[in-house]
Amino acid sequence: MLRSIKNVVVWVSVLVFTFSIAGCEGKMAAKNCMQQTKEAVCDQKLAMTPPMGWNSWNGLGKEVSEELIKETADSMVSTGLKDAGFTYIVIDDYWHGGRDSVTGLLYPDPKRFPSGMKALADYVHSRGLKFGIYSDAGTQTCGEQPGSYGYEEKDAKLFAEWGVDYLKYDYCFCTDYASENNDYKMAIDRYKKMGDALKATGRPIIFSICEWGPRSPWLWGKEVGGNLWRTSYDVYDVWDKPRNDISPIGILTSMDVAANLERFAGPGGWNDPDMLVVGLNNKGNIKGGGCNEIEYRTQMSMWCMLAAPLMIGCDIRKMDETTKTILLNKDVIAIDQDALGKQGFRVYRKDGLEAFKKPLSGNRVAIAFLNRNSTDNKITASYKDLELDPEISYSVYDVWKHTALGQANGTLSADLKPHECQVFVLSPSESK
Ligand code: GAL
Repeated sequence: MLRSIKNVVVWVSVLVFTFSIAGCEGKMAAKNCMQQTKEAVCDQKLAMTPPMGWNSWNGLGKEVSEELIKETADSMVSTGLKDAGFTYIVIDDYWHGGRDSVTGLLYPDPKRFPSGMKALADYVHSRGLKFGIYSDAGTQTCGEQPGSYGYEEKDAKLFAEWGVDYLKYDYCFCTDYASENNDYKMAIDRYKKMGDALKATGRPIIFSICEWGPRSPWLWGKEVGGNLWRTSYDVYDVWDKPRNDISPIGILTSMDVAANLERFAGPGGWNDPDMLVVGLNNKGNIKGGGCNEIEYRTQMSMWCMLAAPLMIGCDIRKMDETTKTILLNKDVIAIDQDALGKQGFRVYRKDGLEAFKKPLSGNRVAIAFLNRNSTDNKITASYKDLELDPEISYSVYDVWKHTALGQANGTLSADLKPHECQVFVLSPSESK
């Protein structure tokens, strides 16, 4: 029987199902890898779902140290973030001491990393987490630290020896202004050089391309060994800042760029609309005015709808309850991590109201409604608007209210506050 979603409450526990599929995939990949560790190249399939973790840049900027990284790793475990799927602890720019003029080897700042990177990686691993680091395809990083240009093999080997599991690779000090026509070629060549060098180490290392988007890395990122590629400039802690030719931009602009690129994302290679600003509350390294709770929730929702990597930027040692509720929402994370590995896409847009759809495993779909306006609005979308099969009746689950809403009968609707996003998982329940 078909009834309005507003009137009937039916509990559907499809998300438990989603989690077991995603977990199973991850374990299978890890097992394959362990069986092959004796071989020169471990054939583990990396980033079969979008990578999840924490990166130092948004919150700490220059203030990285082994003490802070250890405390962050501890908090990742104690807050439950690790259990929710957040795995990678990535140190961004400014970890460097320099490059040894004799050996050519990079070394960390001895004051801030007195025990060295290997010991720190060991600590992170001992907490059941993975360890990431940052370098640059140019002569210097964006923070003017030594870059990897000309040292790709040496650096990749060193990172592997340290126990690095993830490399974010930036693109400062690269642009060849004298020959703009070679711009694409230079980026592809430089990223391939490091991609190959990482592979040659035999250690499975996620390769995060951070070229910001101007040279369309979604077209070549996977070919050069990338597992994720930034699609736009740096997202700051602000809802809307639309000039996407230089940092910073806001949540909305970054989302809009990535939302057109769904055909390029999939298991092993993801569009990266930059890190989460959730929980920054206008503190830390990147400011921008801050966002309200609804806007942070919308970023989390839309990043999950877009199968984006989920890299937390706030100080997880000091998260407030609101931030925890957003980052630890396993129902919305399950959408991001769904084993089908499809990025969501926009299906409806009218008067500042939008609907996005993300196909999920088990013939389910996630639907997100977004209100771009600064006024309250109601959205009503038909099955046709949402490109849903009219022959199927779906049961609807609200991933923020954690509530089953009953059967959808040809339309879905939601009352949305300014900048609010509501997300529903639809599971086929019966044929009409
Ligand atoms: C930018 C990058 C940021 C951060 C920063 C470090 O290019 O987009 O995410 O890594 O460099 O200097």
